[in-house]
Amino acid sequence: EKGTYPHYMLKEMDEQPTVIRKIIQAYEGDNGELTIDTAILQALQAADRLYIIAAGTSYHAGLIGKQYFEKMTGIPVEVHISSEFGYNIPLLSEKPLFIFITQSGETADSRQVLVKIKELGYPTLTVTNVPGSTLSREADYTLLLHAGPEIAVASTKAYVAQVAVLALTAYVTAQASGKGLEFDLKQELAIAANGIQTMIDSKDVLEDIAEDYLKIARNAFFIGRNVDFYVSLEGALKLKEISYIQAEGFAGGELKHGTIALIEEGTPVFALVTQEAVALNIRGNVKEVVARGAYPCIIAMAGLEEAGDRLVIPHVHELLTPLVSVVPMQLISYYAALHRRCDVDKPRNLAKSVTVE
Ligand code: F6R
Repeated sequence: EKGTYPHYMLKEMDEQPTVIRKIIQAYEGDNGELTIDTAILQALQAADRLYIIAAGTSYHAGLIGKQYFEKMTGIPVEVHISSEFGYNIPLLSEKPLFIFITQSGETADSRQVLVKIKELGYPTLTVTNVPGSTLSREADYTLLLHAGPEIAVASTKAYVAQVAVLALTAYVTAQASGKGLEFDLKQELAIAANGIQTMIDSKDVLEDIAEDYLKIARNAFFIGRNVDFYVSLEGALKLKEISYIQAEGFAGGELKHGTIALIEEGTPVFALVTQEAVALNIRGNVKEVVARGAYPCIIAMAGLEEAGDRLVIPHVHELLTPLVSVVPMQLISYYAALHRRCDVDKPRNLAKSVTVE
């Protein structure tokens, strides 16, 4: 029930801090430490490579998940779009584990891969929000997102749940394998939940940004480097699907290799700056587009901000920035869609779960 909310999407975005806290509780063992099912842990430890298979927003979460597994556990990871993978299966490692990320657990493109992988006899894990869904029933193992029902077609709280559960799974696997991790994920997730709340409490500012940058825009760019690139892909998808503004998420350094030709006087460019190692590089990329007339909206994490940035997001652990940086993207898209009188919860041409290939 959406209660007093005008849209499910707004309600679901507001629930995001609670979702993170629920995930912490759901994956807390008796000793208060984060934990996952032993059989799943063993399957992860036995794998020489993880293959993440997903579509849309879940694919974008998978790109972040790759960073988590590779940085924390040292297990190599490939991330694939499900509709591509099943009809062009790449060379596989000797001991692959397949991880299907799917909010609904019903996406046909992802299911066709699961069916083929089961025929090949490889182990499978589904990360889903829906217990008992098709991909959950058909995979060997399931990890639940605990985000509660997501009704709005545009996925918001399921994305942050996916990112959090992937972080937690990588962290627990790394710990079990004796990898020294210098941070307490439980604590860092709690800090990220507060960071999300701060963004949600900044709706007025985000509505102003939507009005200022997107009221009459025909197109928009989202740029970032490293994980900020992946969040840019998600930001662009959110804006496209609910406001119908053509948007593109791009790796900051790649724009100048062709796409920068599309920048005109006043083209909105949203740039994320949350990663210290590439902060100067992305700021350089912003200068390149500004020199061609772009109207930049720099969203920087506290500690990396500079005068002239449009929004500062709270400081969180550098691996967890996607949990917080995606929220302004979601809210800016929401207000841009509202200002254009779009049907936010049920955008044209889209269905909540895509059960045809
Ligand atoms: C975007 C969106 C879609 C889904 C995609 C996969 O907001 O909702 O891109 O993410 O259709 O759906 P699931 O995760 O249910 O497999």
